[in-house]
Amino acid sequence: MKTLIKNIKELVGVETDPNIRKQGKEMARMETIKDAYLIVEDGKIKAFGKMKDTENFQSAILNSQFDHVVDATGRMVFPAFCDSHTHIVYANSREHEFVDKIRGLSYEEIAKRGGGILNSAKATAAASEDELYDMALQRLEEVMRMGTGAIEIKSGYGLTTESELKLLRVIRRLKDNSPMTIKSNFLGAHGIPMEYRGHHEDYVDLVINEMIPLVAAEGLADFIDVFCDQGFFTVEDTARILEAGIKYGMRPKIHANEMAVSGGVQVGVKYGAISVDHLEQMGDAEIECLKGSDTMPTILPGCAFFLNLPLSPARKMIDAGLPVAMASDYNPGTSPSGNMQLILSMACIRYRLTPEEAINATTLNTAYAMGVSDEVGSIAVGKKANFYITKPMSSYEYMPYAYGENKVWQMFVNGKRV
Ligand code: NIG
Ligand code: FE
Repeated sequence: MKTLIKNIKELVGVETDPNIRKQGKEMARMETIKDAYLIVEDGKIKAFGKMKDTENFQSAILNSQFDHVVDATGRMVFPAFCDSHTHIVYANSREHEFVDKIRGLSYEEIAKRGGGILNSAKATAAASEDELYDMALQRLEEVMRMGTGAIEIKSGYGLTTESELKLLRVIRRLKDNSPMTIKSNFLGAHGIPMEYRGHHEDYVDLVINEMIPLVAAEGLADFIDVFCDQGFFTVEDTARILEAGIKYGMRPKIHANEMAVSGGVQVGVKYGAISVDHLEQMGDAEIECLKGSDTMPTILPGCAFFLNLPLSPARKMIDAGLPVAMASDYNPGTSPSGNMQLILSMACIRYRLTPEEAINATTLNTAYAMGVSDEVGSIAVGKKANFYITKPMSSYEYMPYAYGENKVWQMFVNGKRV
């Protein structure tokens, strides 16, 4: 199967010498080709270049060579978004808590009285694996049509062994049946069930001694996650859980510093986390600690927007030489949207990233944060052909500028239009 996209007004996010991630000043570097073509073969990017300059192209445009030709006159092609942090396997929406928050309750207060994550866990326990699969698949297809080609999905609305395994099996079915690149993350330590309040170490023991070995036995998780924050799991709990997960081959990728400067960044870096996510509460020590590490600081603009949290100091981190990734955190409690186009806009509007930095933060750096930046995250020869063709637009800056509108015209995953 060979596809040609021709007359592309501008091909965005091109890499001739691919990076596994971009950090500091490199984040502002983003190559594009004006008046370009893109050739896809067997699901991978085969070639790209300038329409006019390429002699080879003159013979290549003979349509007969291709199974599929798209004329992209006036349109741009972008690498598909990579969403490295989501919780899309859940049963119920939580708009009643949304109203409670408007009336003045905080996220932590709602959680303390058994709402929040425990509210979702109750509904999720009552749902069958098939029901959860259907709901998650619908969400997956919806975000795919908005430009997402790779996604990480967490468990965490189970909080019992049986229920956590059920969620992870749903993620495995999504992996088997969706064309998207999917990574799974075991987040048994997402909330402390009511019956463990006052002796939450026993729940940590359950995660370590029962859940992790069973998850590993079925090969259900690529990563291990902990909600390391004030009112949830401590640094000590986190260290114990990460050590146990690492023994079974799960790399840490954790929630840290959403509510407080929790020590989450330091424990994540210490255990070689591929990413530490949220980071609304960051001091200089956290920024220092991330320097020189392999850990991707990941900001979740949808969550800070939805909960009215302080903004993570993205600009300061980039200016200090760090990489920054931005993901959706799609979940029913703190970010009920997986629209990465909106995350791209927020990166520029709320965090003052330039469009180039924001595009790198939502494609290549999020690909790194889920361990797949050698396969996706940019337009590079040999990478999966995951990209979208936009509606006609004046410049690539229009993409973050025009927030709220769906600018994707056609979406391609593994070279196929979806
Ligand atoms: O990433 N912070 C922890 N977990 C989710 C929220 C989960 C929920 O409230 O349902 C998050 O924001
Ligand atoms: Fe999250």
